[in-house]
Order: sequence, then C-alpha cells, then structure tokens
Amino acid sequence: MQGSLRGNGGPRYRHTVEEGAPYETITVDKVTPIIGAEIAGVDLTRPLSNRQQDEIHRALAENLVIFFRDQALTPQQHLAFGRLFGDLHVHPAAPHEPGLPELMIIHADKDSPRANGEGWHSDVSCEEEPPMGSILHIGKCPPRGGDTLFANMYAAYEALSDRMKRYLEGMTAIHDGEHVYRGLYKNHGVADRPVYPRAEHPVVRTHPVTGRKCLYVNQGFTSALVGVPRDEGDAVLRYLYQHMENPLFQCRFRWRDNSVAFWDNRCAQHRALWDYWPHTRSGHRVTVKGDRPV
Ligand code: SIN
Repeated sequence: MQGSLRGNGGPRYRHTVEEGAPYETITVDKVTPIIGAEIAGVDLTRPLSNRQQDEIHRALAENLVIFFRDQALTPQQHLAFGRLFGDLHVHPAAPHEPGLPELMIIHADKDSPRANGEGWHSDVSCEEEPPMGSILHIGKCPPRGGDTLFANMYAAYEALSDRMKRYLEGMTAIHDGEHVYRGLYKNHGVADRPVYPRAEHPVVRTHPVTGRKCLYVNQGFTSALVGVPRDEGDAVLRYLYQHMENPLFQCRFRWRDNSVAFWDNRCAQHRALWDYWPHTRSGHRVTVKGDRPV
C-alpha cells in the first residue's frame, strides 16, 4: 500500500498548497508540502503580540504541526504559551510536575520500561472533548534519535476512495482509555483510577477552524466501529490504520535541545520513536482543551 496512491496518470492524492497572505511577524518554512512547518522570528519566552498569536494560530491551521527552535522555556513560560490557545487540560493518567497538574512529564531513560506515545495516536481521544492541541518542549535530547512522526488526517481522508468515504459517512467509533492507561505509569508511582475515559466519536470529523473533513480513528485509542459486526469493524479499522500510515501524509521532526512542537490533535496523529535507549530524552507537554468532535 505504501507509496501506491497512484491513479491513471498521476497520484490519486493530489495536494495543492494554497499560498495565503504573507506572514508579517513570523517566518514559516514548510517541512513537507503536506504537513509541518518550522516557525522562526519569535521568542516564546517573552510575551507575544496579538498579531504574533494570530499568525501562530494560522500557521498551525495551515500546517497541522509547527516547530520552534532554541526556546529555553521555563515551566511557567510553557504554561503561559499554552493558555494563549485555550484552557489547559489535565491528563487523566500521566505524571506531572509537583503542584503543576497541567505540566505533563515526558521522560525516558535507561531505566524506563517504555516511552510516551510510541504508537500512532491523537492525544487522549478517549475523552468526550479531546484536546485540540499539544505543545511539547524537549529540554534534553539523546545524542541521536527520539524523532517524532506526524501524519495529516485531512490528506488520509481525502485519499480514500469515494466508496469508502460513503461507507464511513455518519459512522462512529469507540475510543477507550482503559486498555491504554491502566498500569501504564506504575513506574512513575501513579496509582490507577477506578475508571478511565471512554467516548464515541465520528469516524470522520469536521475541523472547527478549517471546516475540512479528516479521519478521526487511531490505533492507540479506537477500539471498535459502532453499528457493524465486530469482525467487519476490525477489518475496516485495520485498513484505515494501514492507509493513514502512508509516508506521503507524514513529516518527521528531529529534535534538538529546547525545541518545541505544537500539534493539532483534531487533524493530525503522531508517533514518538524510542530508538535512543539507554540515553535520556526529557521534557514537558502542555495540552490545550478542545471541543466534542462533530
Ligand atoms: C506524546 O505522545 O505526547 C509524546 C510525543 C513525543 O514524545 O515525541
């Protein structure tokens, strides 16, 4: 399947980049035509003007994930940057810094049994109102490795056949936190909750800012399609997961100390690579609350 989105006389998935008005307060350098952009000309440790905030928001909408370099954010600066985009989310399971429940710890070292986000997912999609975005600051990188992959779910949706789009129209899926979170953070001393979130969401959602349709099922949390036999649902989900993993929809971010990635969970999925053991990769995530998918 990979790399095979080819019709007669050209690729089946044709992505056209619409150039908007030029940016005035930041520079935006696309990583691929389909997803990701590096943002320069802005210091996130200082208060941002309204114009800078608007342009960062626009760059996120246009590129799905945006990257910043050389941002030595303190916890308070990181939280303040997140609050510019909405109320902050508290993770239902993951450890956070003492007294700062909105500052999630992202850390793996030689003693870790696992690292965060190793499979394709959209953050906490098991909640009724999953987060709109996540802002990850990595302060300490391993000498090599620890990249994060991001994938464009508008592109994945648009590349489906018209028949598949019709099949998925109006369909919903169950997103479950139970199998993901129970026992997951035991090594950090986090006690399990009696129950973890579970929600039913449309398989294809419409982005509240761009008005575009995107696929909204992911391997991490989505456990079943609603209204079809289990074996059929499992087979369709397997197909969708394979389809959305096509490298054509992806970019790959190579971290350096004090880089920041800000991704839109509504239309992008991500996957972190734990290829750096026994080295340490360490940082924090601030997550911005979102709306109920429609
Ligand atoms: C996550 O899923 O939030 C972790 C991503 C990463 O560590 O790159």
